[in-house]
Amino acid sequence: MAGSRGEFSSRFGFVMAASGSAVGLGNIWGFPTQAASNGGAAFLLVYLLLAFLLAYPVLMAELILGRHAHSNAVRALRQVSPLRNVSQIGALTGIVGFIVASLILSFYAIVAGWMIAFCLSAIAELAGARAFANWLTSFGLWRNLLSMLIFMALTIGIVSAGVKEGIERWSERLMPMLLITLLALVLYVLTLEGAMTGLEVYLLPDFSRALSPQLILDALGSAFFSLSLGVGTMLIYGSYVSDDENLPLLGGIVTLVDIFVAVLAGFLVLPAMYVALHNGVEIFTQAGALISEDTLIFTVLPQLFATMGLPGILVAIIFFNLMTIAALTSSISMLEVPVAYAVEEFNAERHLAAWMIGGLIAGISGIILLNFELLFGLVVTLTTRYGQPILGFMFCIYAGWLWRRDALLQELRKGYPNVERGLFWKIWPWYVKLVCPLIIAAIIGRSLFG
Ligand code: TRP
Repeated sequence: MAGSRGEFSSRFGFVMAASGSAVGLGNIWGFPTQAASNGGAAFLLVYLLLAFLLAYPVLMAELILGRHAHSNAVRALRQVSPLRNVSQIGALTGIVGFIVASLILSFYAIVAGWMIAFCLSAIAELAGARAFANWLTSFGLWRNLLSMLIFMALTIGIVSAGVKEGIERWSERLMPMLLITLLALVLYVLTLEGAMTGLEVYLLPDFSRALSPQLILDALGSAFFSLSLGVGTMLIYGSYVSDDENLPLLGGIVTLVDIFVAVLAGFLVLPAMYVALHNGVEIFTQAGALISEDTLIFTVLPQLFATMGLPGILVAIIFFNLMTIAALTSSISMLEVPVAYAVEEFNAERHLAAWMIGGLIAGISGIILLNFELLFGLVVTLTTRYGQPILGFMFCIYAGWLWRRDALLQELRKGYPNVERGLFWKIWPWYVKLVCPLIIAAIIGRSLFG
């Protein structure tokens, strides 16, 4: 059945690839400030709960559907039911999924390109090329285009090498590197003056803030992005898992690694912000909240590095290198979605498919860059606020309602013979049927009317 399809060669390889997909810019630039501004350790607890209550079940739906079909999302969803209409809507869901995945990549590559530019800038600074270093950190069309193209070329290069030789091999190299670098940066920043205040702000629990319904819905949305759900990324990675693996366990590990890295990033970002404050850098917005997202990464942190002299330049290189790696292990998982489809459905040659589809997506990124004010925010909102939840909803319906229960059980038994006796089988089936669709509907409702 798997035939000439790729397959991950080991459990470690899958865990690195799937958690590499999950761990990305979202974890490092989203989570820490969100936690600090919304109840610290209390938010952390709520987020942990949410990740397991909503994101994990949907992740499992994708992994199980993928491994069962051992094929891309279009074919996997088409096969779920013999009914013609159901099968056509399934195929359509898969197609919309790979379009949304491609659009997410088109904006992700722009931001990831900036990470490369900032990393190169610090290297140029070290080499004494001041003017070039400045050019690399100033917002401009050519800088943006060039750095996006470099990032896309790296992404395409890895995906074109295949599942084992490309995705698995590079995830196995890059993920441990990411963890070690992150840990080293945390330890270093904690020794600097001001860091402890940041730690307090990050961790001081305030349940009154963490429990607001609005915040919980937002956090659910970010959990969705953080676990790469809704577009068939995890489905396609699941399709490369061998039949003797215990899927609920693997999914659980991936969820935990994703949360762990987000929490660990908080131990870097928050202390760093208060070191910056100590060094005279502004870290609050006019409304009094902590500066977050792009301004945090591209303004506050570089200003902090600039106050640190030579060590600052080195830290900048290491930090932006870390961000580039985090982005790369995620972007390859996005590109794999349309590439796997082209390879399987049209017998396309992988190299060619990767370069053509990747080239097309780079073209879309270029169009976004040419109309940045108009398009960038629009594409982000369309794909992450609407596309992902709506598609995630469909995955739950297919796994929960349209798939026969005995077929599902058989699929799970493959790598987990006693699955019926475990907690997973007692909870997950009705959960993905009822609870997940309801929660996702609430998220979509909030995006539409909230
Ligand atoms: N999860 C990644 C992050 O946190 C981004 C990502 C990778 C993604 N693949 C995806 C987001 C597919 C949505 C869909 O940065």
